[in-house]
Amino acid sequence: MRKIIIAGNWKMYKTQTHALEFLQVFKSKLNETEELKEVVLCVPFTVLSIVSKNLHGGTIRLGAQNIHWEEQGAYTGEISGTMLQDIGVQYVIVGHSERRQYFGETDETVNLRLLAAQKVGLTPILCVGETKQQRDTHQTELVIINQLNVDLSNVDQDNLVIAYEPIWAIGTGETCAPVEANSTIALIRSELANPEVTIQYGGSVKPDNIDELMKQPEIDGVLVGGASLDPVSFARIVNYS
Ligand code: 13P
Repeated sequence: MRKIIIAGNWKMYKTQTHALEFLQVFKSKLNETEELKEVVLCVPFTVLSIVSKNLHGGTIRLGAQNIHWEEQGAYTGEISGTMLQDIGVQYVIVGHSERRQYFGETDETVNLRLLAAQKVGLTPILCVGETKQQRDTHQTELVIINQLNVDLSNVDQDNLVIAYEPIWAIGTGETCAPVEANSTIALIRSELANPEVTIQYGGSVKPDNIDELMKQPEIDGVLVGGASLDPVSFARIVNYS
């Protein structure tokens, strides 16, 4: 059985006070999750510690948003896997399109980060997806296959989550139609050595489209940006029906 993972990506939002306010409301709205459903909060480095100390008795897992590939060293401004693991992190987002677009991440560095996460026992959430222009010119398949080929080189597919995040659907309110997301995720799955990998959809997931998305047979969860900042919205997403 593939694991269902509902993850929030807070991006560069929330101070410690705001993180605690979120948790107080969020925890009160959370239904008992079934064994196969996991809730993950991928928060900024500066609130990892406080969120770690205030989690819901183990039901909510802690995630980070990036990881450096070296364990330690002269890499000003970077954070290693050992450091993340040290404060209770279990998941880490790798290769988010915002990191690829604004911070020069390449498939080669994404691959190094995936390997580094697995080396210390973290589960990486690898993000892949096409731009609007690539989609409009029917290159979605090619782009994703090329990303996977490099990103997943020597990566252990038994400890991996993939998030299909079409770039044109991120933060735009323009959701990928559930059926289209389902078929692209099926394509991703067909490229994997392990078909049991959890594959999420990400891009303008909201309380009003989560139920339809989760009805799709290939979609094993979601990676949520904007709507994960509000505890009521995110709880509704986690408690999808
Ligand atoms: P939005 O849900 O705000 O579109 O962001 C998606 C995303 O980038 C999650 O990683």
